[in-house]
Amino acid sequence: MIALSPNLQVRLATPLQIGSLAVKSRVLQSPLSGVTDLVFRRLVRRYAPESMMYTEMVNATGLHYVKELPIIMEVDPNERPISIQLFDCRPDFLAEAAVMAVKEGADTVDINMGCPVNKITKNGGGSSLLRQPEVAEEIVRSVVNAVDVPVTVKTRIGWTDKEITILDFAKRMEDAGAQMITVHGRTRAQGYNGSARWEWIARVKEVLSIPVIANGDIFSVEAAVRCLEQTGADGVMCSRGTLGYPFLVGEIDYFLKTGQELPPPTPVERLQCAREHLQALWEYKGDRGVRQARKHMTWYAKGFTGAAELRGLLSVIETVDQGLEVIDQAIVQLVDYEAKSEEIKSSLQIA
Ligand SMILES: Cc1cc2nc3c(=O)[nH]c(=O)nc-3n(C[C@H](O)[C@H](O)[C@H](O)COP(=O)(O)O)c2cc1C
Repeated sequence: MIALSPNLQVRLATPLQIGSLAVKSRVLQSPLSGVTDLVFRRLVRRYAPESMMYTEMVNATGLHYVKELPIIMEVDPNERPISIQLFDCRPDFLAEAAVMAVKEGADTVDINMGCPVNKITKNGGGSSLLRQPEVAEEIVRSVVNAVDVPVTVKTRIGWTDKEITILDFAKRMEDAGAQMITVHGRTRAQGYNGSARWEWIARVKEVLSIPVIANGDIFSVEAAVRCLEQTGADGVMCSRGTLGYPFLVGEIDYFLKTGQELPPPTPVERLQCAREHLQALWEYKGDRGVRQARKHMTWYAKGFTGAAELRGLLSVIETVDQGLEVIDQAIVQLVDYEAKSEEIKSSLQIA
């Protein structure tokens, strides 16, 4: 059983205050490229209605030249609170993009200073800003001047193990006007490997006055509680733990608010969620949505008898109907299997 210490309970009882914005949940759904579109966020929000969510990261240079909102920047007028995440290295383009983000309905604008991907860092964006703190400061100042919603930063602890610069960097972001910082406890060199080093997040928390959100390796309620205890952070942000599992943010939020653990969804409930996800992606994006759905579907199909075979089938679906049929058959088999297991269990009890 997971215990919520009285200390932690008191610390988390008030809303998360991001500048002028009060958020009634201390658990956030991270930005995930290719994942956290409007459809996915809607599923997460069903279980975590008060949590802050993020769009996929949007390229400010692209916005500057095209002047048209890409689908990844689309926000449902009813989804609140929502942050639009931007990436780039040009303060003027980022300011311009931030204005567009606020017009689209962003409650906060987040600047990506943590993406490790070469394509982004070689153009001066993402985690390469950790090595250009003056540019990062200028970006924050320029975006803060352009919009009247809180501006936040998401970053990593440093470029390499030899260059862990987060303490100085985070302070600079705060001084430049950032209203919250999310720290992914890995270096750029780590990518997504090794453990997230929460001890660095604890140190950041000690030197900043703005809220600090801990990110990295939050895969369960237990991990979230441990991370909050160890870091003293103001909240936690879930990432890979939500792939094929849009229940996680809600499960953690519920626990932090009540001290009670929700029963995990059954395999059938997870497949019903997968079905709904596929259908909604198809309605929202057509054939492209079905192609994008393949990876989501394989993430849902985990941890039950027949899951590996199901993943194989779902990874190659061509049409929505084909996908729905595969899922429906799997649900029938699982219901059958569960009924048989129950039968066996009760016959053993009688005997
Ligand atoms: C598929 C994928 C896409 C991601 N896209 C973004 C993104 O658009 N913006 C961002 O700030 N971080 C992005 N990240 C990083 C995550 O938000 C998070 O910082 C990282 O996965 C660490 O948390 P975890 O260990 O809980 O997964 C992405 C990560 C993954 C795996």
